[in-house]
Amino acid sequence: MSLLPISIYPDPVLRQKAERVENIDDSIQRLIDNMIETMHEAPGIGLAANQVGRPVRVVVLDVERREPGAGLLVLINPELISAAGKTKSEEGCLSIPGYFASVTRHQEVVVRGLDRQGQTIEIAADGLLSIALQHEMDHLEGKLFIDRISAIARDIFKRRWKKKLREEGAEPQLCLD
Ligand code: NI
Repeated sequence: MSLLPISIYPDPVLRQKAERVENIDDSIQRLIDNMIETMHEAPGIGLAANQVGRPVRVVVLDVERREPGAGLLVLINPELISAAGKTKSEEGCLSIPGYFASVTRHQEVVVRGLDRQGQTIEIAADGLLSIALQHEMDHLEGKLFIDRISAIARDIFKRRWKKKLREEGAEPQLCLD
């Protein structure tokens, strides 16, 4: 296994709609292993394949922070089956390090996908797992949590982010979408 570099906003791969996995081959298995290791090392509670430069529909999650691996979940081609309620909580993202904002999401979701053996699994989630699932599935659509904050908050974020990137020596014409 190896650690993968995490794509940082505004890397265009984060805006790409991920493709369905048709064949869970060795390259996908390797990707999954590396994503799990990268997520745990970061540390994060979820990672979508776009975030490591591979726009395919694979996400890994592990919301049991106290015991890494205990809540490990691998989902391929996940689909939202149903959703209920609303909840607001503070979110962050490994691709937007150091920035956190309040996001409104469904309180409960049912998600269906394949596990890494290709078996269909259905997950009924609430709390942190529900939020993490929605956050990671957004990534597969090229969507980020900053798309779900208020226009004013997003403006402030973009100004701050441009300044941060400038300080890190990024291209001055860099455009934040
Ligand atoms: Ni994220």
